[in-house]
Amino acid sequence: MLAGRHVVLAVSGGVAAYKAAYLARRLLEVGAEVRTVMTDASRQFLGPQTLAAITGSAPVLGLFDQEEVSPHTTLGQWADVIVVAPATAATMSRLATGLSVDAISATVLASRCPVVVAPAMHTEMWEHPATARNVATLIGDGCVIAGPATGALAGGDEGLGRMLDPDEILEIVAGAISPGAMYGWKILVSAGGTREAIDPVRYIGNRSSGKMGNAIALAAAEAGAQVTLVTTVAAPAHRNIDEVQVESAQDMADAVWKAAPQVDAAVLAAAVADFRPADPAVGKLRRAEGLPQVHLEPTPDILAGVAAMVDRPYLVGFAAEVGSLEVAIEKAQRKGVDLLVANDVARTGSGFGTDTNEVTLITPDGATEAWELLSKAEVGTRLIAEIVRRHQPAGER
Ligand code: PMT
Repeated sequence: MLAGRHVVLAVSGGVAAYKAAYLARRLLEVGAEVRTVMTDASRQFLGPQTLAAITGSAPVLGLFDQEEVSPHTTLGQWADVIVVAPATAATMSRLATGLSVDAISATVLASRCPVVVAPAMHTEMWEHPATARNVATLIGDGCVIAGPATGALAGGDEGLGRMLDPDEILEIVAGAISPGAMYGWKILVSAGGTREAIDPVRYIGNRSSGKMGNAIALAAAEAGAQVTLVTTVAAPAHRNIDEVQVESAQDMADAVWKAAPQVDAAVLAAAVADFRPADPAVGKLRRAEGLPQVHLEPTPDILAGVAAMVDRPYLVGFAAEVGSLEVAIEKAQRKGVDLLVANDVARTGSGFGTDTNEVTLITPDGATEAWELLSKAEVGTRLIAEIVRRHQPAGER
């Protein structure tokens, strides 16, 4: 997978820098073309001559002191993938803020390729909120964070923060460079619970946290899809996710129906109100005015609207049920979906607000496939893999 590909190995200043020499050797063994870039601090741990001897070309050591006019842009544009190994807390901080004052951060900023970051630092530094913020930013920018592992650290300490073994990093670099399973797809996901106004202060809502929908959106984005996430909650940060904030079922219907004709697949995981106050009060309802009469009317059925579209996307609905699967199987047959994901919201660890979910996939012919209790992240990843397995986007048919 890496044969013939241009890999930039960026080495920053931690004791794990000595392992970068072996990583360079392994990258060459699998056929990659390797160039290197080093920070000043890394040279305290690894001689540039070592990397030059292994790769056949001298590392870029700075922005100004070389024959090359603009070494960072030349290197950034040449790269098919950049791997920062080891990545110190300081280097990650510069990558996260775009503070391109050294050769590594300038090279990354001048690139358009996948970036793999292999952190190496002491546990306290890794767990510090500043590092956690930088990691979240880098993930949001589309970087792949490889590690760290637990084990021996500098100075005889032990703990989380050790750089992954070079062979593990090699695997991750190979994965990052291959297009994701959903590369080129457009995906629509709905998440969260709708809110239907009773008056300017109060609403009819539900218990959805948006975790399930967010996990699906993130899994699709990480698989390379361009994701439109129509949601009532904060969306996960990822450069492939376009967030559309909505509140009511009507807002959600408008946004979903607008986006649906342009996408290859739609996964509607939001908990949408089935009824809304027919005439929300303009002013705040007051206790002194007596018990209000709230008349309800049905909300639009968003799923049914997408199902009825002439050239509709591959359609995945969710069903929040309690107890037997009978109602969900009937829904899968009636709702015009390609796939229904049923979750029993009364089960411990399943449904609303939890970090885990136990789901059953149901197809319109009534066939079911039950998955064990998994993290919502894992349900998202597996569901995206299922969609890829079951559906070919129109352009590829
Ligand atoms: O957000 P979390 O806290 O992580 O919880 C996840 C979840 C429990 C909300 C999620 O896993 C889930 O089950 N979502 C669907 C909830 C739901 O509304 O189920 P339903 O059986 O009422 O609706 C069936 C399908 O029709 C859903 O795809 C729903 O989005 C859709 N629907 C419902 C009503 C409506 N007016 N329009 C719709 O499109």
